[in-house]
Formats: sequence, structure tokens, C-alpha cells
Amino acid sequence: MSLRLFIPSDSGALAVGAEQVAAAFVAAGNKRNLALEIVRTGSRGLYWLEPMVEVATPQGRVAYGPVEPGDVDGLLDAMTQQAPHRLALGPTEDIPWLKRQTRLTFARCGVTDPMSLDDYRAHGGLKGLARAASLGGKASIEEILQSGLRGRGGAGFPTGIKWRTVAEAPGAQKYIVCNADEGDSGTFADRMIMEGDPYLLIEGMAIAALAVGASKGFIYIRSEYPHAIATMERAIVAARAGGLLGKAIGGSQQSFDLEVRAGAGSYVCGEETSLLESLEGKRGVVRAKPPLPAHQGLFGKPTVVNNVLSFAAVPFVLAEGAKAYADFGMGRSRGTMPIQLAGNVRHGGLFEIAFGLTLGEIVDDIGGGTLTGRPVRAVQVGGPLGAYFPRALFDTPFDYEAFAARDGLVGHGGVVVFDDTVDMLKQARFAFEFCSIESCGKCTPCRIGSTRGVETIDLIRTTDDRASRIALIKDLCNTMKFGSLCALGGFVPYPVMSALNHFPEDFDVPQRQAAE
Ligand SMILES: Cc1cc2nc3c(=O)[nH]c(=O)nc-3n(C[C@H](O)[C@H](O)[C@H](O)COP(=O)(O)O)c2cc1C
Ligand code: SF4
Repeated sequence: MSLRLFIPSDSGALAVGAEQVAAAFVAAGNKRNLALEIVRTGSRGLYWLEPMVEVATPQGRVAYGPVEPGDVDGLLDAMTQQAPHRLALGPTEDIPWLKRQTRLTFARCGVTDPMSLDDYRAHGGLKGLARAASLGGKASIEEILQSGLRGRGGAGFPTGIKWRTVAEAPGAQKYIVCNADEGDSGTFADRMIMEGDPYLLIEGMAIAALAVGASKGFIYIRSEYPHAIATMERAIVAARAGGLLGKAIGGSQQSFDLEVRAGAGSYVCGEETSLLESLEGKRGVVRAKPPLPAHQGLFGKPTVVNNVLSFAAVPFVLAEGAKAYADFGMGRSRGTMPIQLAGNVRHGGLFEIAFGLTLGEIVDDIGGGTLTGRPVRAVQVGGPLGAYFPRALFDTPFDYEAFAARDGLVGHGGVVVFDDTVDMLKQARFAFEFCSIESCGKCTPCRIGSTRGVETIDLIRTTDDRASRIALIKDLCNTMKFGSLCALGGFVPYPVMSALNHFPEDFDVPQRQAAE
């Protein structure tokens, strides 16, 4: 008898013991003389069930989780005898949390062996690149434009327009840069792609290279992602050997090669111009725009800078056609969004679905409320510069414009949940403090204003003259919003003002202390 098992080697699963579980299966298999084939995959993104182990059966894969090494013997009994087990989750594809998703970008994540180019090809990989090569640059860019794809890094800028600008910019040398700095709190989708489906990112970047005529690309990965860095480096070597990178990519006339560069722990290096400075070996300071990176980017050359998820959406668009992607979504938010649920939430993980679900559905139905079981009080969407939403705004659909209309942002799709013990005054202070630590220092509203913000919030706690302090915070937010050079200083008002507007009781310190 033999068994084929699938065990994630994604760093989220490794953090909760996937390596020990895999080792326990190997040891138990040897003891029983049972032939085990263990495929190490990415994660399916159901992190509360990790390490989630799947076994191949004639009816498809069946899942178990969360598995500990001590469960392995009992699990092998259940798997070999097809008997019930307390950790059994049933056929993986039927798990309601997975079944409800529309996985266009994450279709292979957790399914295939991330290092196998054959597996990638067998599951639909490289079709997009082949079509891009046959269409040519102009028509490929038109597909991206028609798909409605907008940048998933945060700003939501139309990807096709950016590519067209680079394609039309004069110059023989152009670059493709992938922003894998993923610094937003509660986000991990970029990491999951890089660790779970790295050829998808390489294919997306290769399509971009064909489209704009670039021969060289860089993937800038945050240093906190050592597994992603190692996986991408191995995948690039294999992609070169397999003809996905190198000369005549996808059967075209274009050559394209990639290199990984690691960041050094700076949030602002996720901002595209300071990322380019950092890539050039300089201090990560934001550049004034214009010139846009599309005109003068890396080493002054026309450069496409896109987020991992933007590139990762591209192969589907080219393989299946713009309409297949644009058919999903609402308004000007087309396609799907990999929503990342984190913080105090029962079902934390990655949920890819068409734009349009309400925040309440995301937090209550999909997230299952808080892990502590206490009422949800606030949800921060879009990273540390995103607004805090109270329950009263849970009818907001997940859509760039709907969030903007309520002074919020979708950002990179991070949703961080807080229960009723959260202190929103502290959260507002944290926003200023974060900005003061991460500021590149180039402009005054951000460099000085963030520190003044921390001090003023502290005065709200300790002095009686709260009304004038709050007026000062509002004034400061206004200055930062309109006077900052980039969105680090410019967006800090979102978390601060949403905390103040939606949770004013937390800023009324004596009343709160009396209530406690
Ligand atoms: C302070 C700051 C941090 C940012 N961090 C990231 C990041 O970690 N990853 C990312 O893709 N974009 C980040 N961005 C947005 C980038 O500047 C840029 O808009 C993005 O890389 C463009 O790619 P896209 O169009 O595919 O989203 C950040 C922006 C700011 C202002
Ligand atoms: S807003 Fe802050 S991070 Fe952005 S350029 Fe100004 S000082 Fe630098």
C-alpha cells in the first residue's frame, strides 16, 4: 500500500509545526513499511487549520487539520482504512471556506508543488505567456487594459495604463520591478504566492517584459520573508533551465532575466520610488514625482513597478481573456481580490473573491467573528494607514470607490479585526508613532508632524484641555494629508481621524475611566 500526502511548506504552516508533522509522517511510514510520497505544497490559506495535511484518494484529495506530530499514527490508520478521524475535514474542495471562493490568482496555491515547473504547466501555467507572445506587446497591453486590473499594492492604479506608458517611453533599456515588500499589517498574500506558486509571479513579470520590451527585472522582497526569498531564488534558477527566463521567452524574440533583491526592514521602501532608490543601493528616501517611474524609474530608465498580486493576476487575464477577468467584480473594481483576514479573528487566512462582498460578510460570515468570542468593535482595512471601520459601516462593499467614499481604503486587502477591548486612542497614537518610526524624513509634515501627533495624543490622556488638543490633532491631520510628499505621511490621517470620528468615547478619557 502507498499513500500520497500533501503537506504545506509555506512559512505560515512551518510556524505552527508543518516540518515536525512531515517528519513524523516519514518516521511512522518507515515503521509501518508504508510507501509514503510527500509533496510539499504552499498553503491553501486556511491558517487556523494549519498544518493541514491532505491525502490523495480515488475521489480526490481529503484534508485533515490542524495536525500535530502526535496525531500522525491515528491519521495513518484512518487514511489507510478510510475510517473516520476527529481531524477529518472531508474532501478539500468541499470545505465551505474554500468552496465559496473564486480562486483566479490562487488557483494553484496549496495544490501544486511550488518548485515543479512540470506541475505548474500541468495546472494551466504558461498559457498566458504563450498567448502574450503570439499577441505581441500592444495587444497584450490592451488585454490588461480591458480586464480592468488595478494595482493590488494599495493605490489601485490601472495596470494597463502603467504598462502602456512604459511601452511608449523612449529608450532601449527598460525594467520590470516587482514590489514584494509587503509591509502592511495583516497582509501575507504576496508571501503566499512567492512560496506557494512562484512561477506564477515569474510568468506575470515575463508577460510584462514582453509587453513593454524590458530585458531585465528585479523582485524586491522584504528581508522578513527568508522562505519567500529562498523559494523565488530557486524558482528563478529552475525557470532559466526550463526556458521561462532567458533568451526568446515564450517563443518570442525577447530575452528576459530576473534577480531577487532583499530589503532591509523599512516600511517606506514599499513606496515605489524609495524602493527604486533602495534597489540602486541608496538610502530608501522617497523621490518627488514627476518624473514617474514609468518615465524615469530604476537607474533613470522607464520602469514598470507592480505589486506581486498585480503581476500574479496577469497570466489568467492573458490565458483566459480580459473578459473572463472583468466579468467578476463591481463598478471600477474588476476581477477578484485576495482578502487577508488577520488580527483577532476566528478564521484567519486568505479568501479570494470578486470585489463587492460587504465588510460585515467578510468579518462575520467568512472570518467567523473574533477569536476571543467577544464582539467585534473595529476593523482596520488596508494596512497601518487604513481607516478603522465600526460596525455601523459594515455594509460597505469591498470596492475601491466605496471604501474611499467612507474615508477608507482597500489597500492591499488586509483586514485586521479588533474586539471590544481595543483602545482606539492607543490605536490613533500607534498610527502617529508608526509613521514617526518609518518616515523617510524627506518632508516636514510627516517627519515632524508624526512626532507632534504622538505628543498631542499623550496630552489628551494627561491634561484636562482635551477639546483644544483634539482640535490640534484635526489640524495636524489636515496638514499631513495635504502637505506630505507621499502616502506614508499623507494617509496617517485615515487611521487617526477614523478612530476619532467613529470612536469619540475613547478620546474622552475621564468619562472612560469613570465607566471602567
Ligand atoms: C509608505 C508606502 C508603503 C508601500 N508599501 C507597498 C508594499 O509593501 N507593496 C506594494 O506593492 N506597494 C506598496 N506601496 C505602493 C507603491 O508605492 C506602488 O503604488 C505599488 O508598488 C505599485 O504597484 P501596483 O500598481 O501593482 O499596486 C506603498 C506605498 C507607500 C506610500
Ligand atoms: S511623507 Fe514621510 S515617508 Fe513620505 S516623503 Fe514625506 S517624510 Fe518621507
